[in-house]
Amino acid sequence: MPTPKPEILAAFEAAKGFMPVREGLALYEAAVAAGALGLPLLEVGTYCGRSTILLADAAREAGVAAITVDHHRGSEEQQPGWEYHDPTVVDPEVGLMDTLPAFRRTLHRAGLEDHVIAIVGRSPQVAAAWGGPLGFVFIDGGHTDEHATGDYEGWTPHLAQGGTLVIHDVFPDPADGGQAPYRIYLRALASGDFEELSATDSLRVLRRR
Ligand SMILES: C[S@@+](CC[C@H](N)C(=O)[O-])C[C@H]1O[C@@H](n2cnc3c(N)ncnc32)[C@H](O)[C@@H]1O
Repeated sequence: MPTPKPEILAAFEAAKGFMPVREGLALYEAAVAAGALGLPLLEVGTYCGRSTILLADAAREAGVAAITVDHHRGSEEQQPGWEYHDPTVVDPEVGLMDTLPAFRRTLHRAGLEDHVIAIVGRSPQVAAAWGGPLGFVFIDGGHTDEHATGDYEGWTPHLAQGGTLVIHDVFPDPADGGQAPYRIYLRALASGDFEELSATDSLRVLRRR
């Protein structure tokens, strides 16, 4: 099982974000394997770059690009007054969340700036403008049905045959978390287009047949 170098793992653990280590290691393993297709690896949901570090390192190893998409204004549950709000990522001038500066600091500290293409925008709009095949799609964006469905419908058509689809925050039991990522995971399986490769806590790794 490929594991990130100690300095990459340390940068990941030091970064602000929402990806636990066990799931991060599973994400890294899936990204390294997908790199063999020689196609870009794409993430929806950059936040402050925690998971991006792992995709960037996997992309560097494979000689492909890591692309990460976020509007950097935060998901619903990250807004002021909600459970996952962090006041240190609010832009005081405009009074809105802006995780782009923290993301850029994360990548700079990890020495990975040259290996990531960061796209600032809304996932469905970026997906609609996207023109090439992808070897890997990691969905970790908005967790409402509207956003998770938009990510699934927008990005899976770009996934090459044999490409990897990873979905984060899949909770079969509603007591553990929101159901939108679980619903797109079920939809992917029901489509018959994907087979499941692994499940690590709330991270699911699927492969396009
Ligand atoms: C759970 S966080 C991502 C966590 C990150 N992957 C990590 O490892 O810490 C979700 C991110 O998705 C972004 N987001 C939510 N809905 C989006 C959309 N429709 N388009 C682009 N970004 C979106 C939010 O701004 C937020 O930064």
